[in-house]
Amino acid sequence: MTKIFPATKAAIAEAAEILRNGGLVAFPTETVYGLGADAASEAAVARIFAAKGRPAVNPLIVHVTDWKMVEDYAQTNDRAKLLAASFWPGPLSIILKRKTDTKLAQSVSAGLDTVALRAPAHPVAQQLIAALDRPIAAPSANRSGTLSPTAPLHVEKSLGTAVDMILAGGKCAIGLESTVIDMTAEMPTVLRAGFILPETIADVLGEDVATAYDTVTEETGAPLSPGQLLRHYAPDTPLRLKAVDAQEGEALLAFGSVRFMGLRGKGHIPEKDIFNLSENGDLNEAAANLFAMLHEIDQKGYKGIAVMDIPAAGLGIAINDRLKRAARAQQD
Ligand code: TXA
Ligand code: MG
Repeated sequence: MTKIFPATKAAIAEAAEILRNGGLVAFPTETVYGLGADAASEAAVARIFAAKGRPAVNPLIVHVTDWKMVEDYAQTNDRAKLLAASFWPGPLSIILKRKTDTKLAQSVSAGLDTVALRAPAHPVAQQLIAALDRPIAAPSANRSGTLSPTAPLHVEKSLGTAVDMILAGGKCAIGLESTVIDMTAEMPTVLRAGFILPETIADVLGEDVATAYDTVTEETGAPLSPGQLLRHYAPDTPLRLKAVDAQEGEALLAFGSVRFMGLRGKGHIPEKDIFNLSENGDLNEAAANLFAMLHEIDQKGYKGIAVMDIPAAGLGIAINDRLKRAARAQQD
């Protein structure tokens, strides 16, 4: 039986009750669907790691309603507060030092002394956190390493019975995971590219912002953002980047005009094999379509996915980041 429920008031109240009892609820955010558990419960958080098959070294994002909720759990600072005031609710996760006496489950931090916090903008996410009246730990609601979910059916297909309830709130408007920024370092450092760009953050802070999408810390060799070095975002169908044509049996994941794209040695690419992220070359539209189109292509039995070049500027950096990780994961 399906576990997908429209996010009515009653369903949200029931979902909060499930969370209070240590269960798992998938819910919509403006970025991707999250797999939520009570962030104060070790046992509930352990269920997230089990349901996803997630390596224990990869910490979770803790979702709050607003900055006020952060103050009970993390050591705050003025620059982080300024970011929250500018970008929350919204797709920015801010890493801070944990408070030492906090009720937050240790496992959300996966052994680190920091915690990533985000106030999501989606009204259903907001209402769910408010109904629970404490933070919700929530990674993306998919099996570890696979495509992120941007619709309720993606969640059901990936997690099946491992989740107690899926609150449906339509397609995710942004479609890519939040920007993750470390505000504990001397220089603010973006660890995961997302909708909010480093240059926009730098403008707000009035200082330089570093990016570290693929790095490890020098002292320990441990990745700054453990999730960034793991297998990620991978469809089942093999994927090749910067394609200038398609081969027979491949789907074309297009961006912008396909006028100059052909089927190798055979002329035109059949219309049904073309999945255009954005015919107008709009990066926002492409981001919103990315995971949904990869999910769709995966279901259709293509032998491969030829991905057209996507400009590496603005939001294109985050889109390319996901595609590169997907292609690399398949080679591991
Ligand atoms: O948009 C999003 O952020 C979605 C929705 C549900 O909010 N969540 C999400 O969570 O993408 P997840 O678990 O799939 O990705 C969290 C990322 C991982 O790369 C993880 O390593 C990093 O954030 N992260 C979390 N806590 C961290 C910490 N304390 N220090 C460094 N990196 C951290
Ligand atoms: Mg994820």
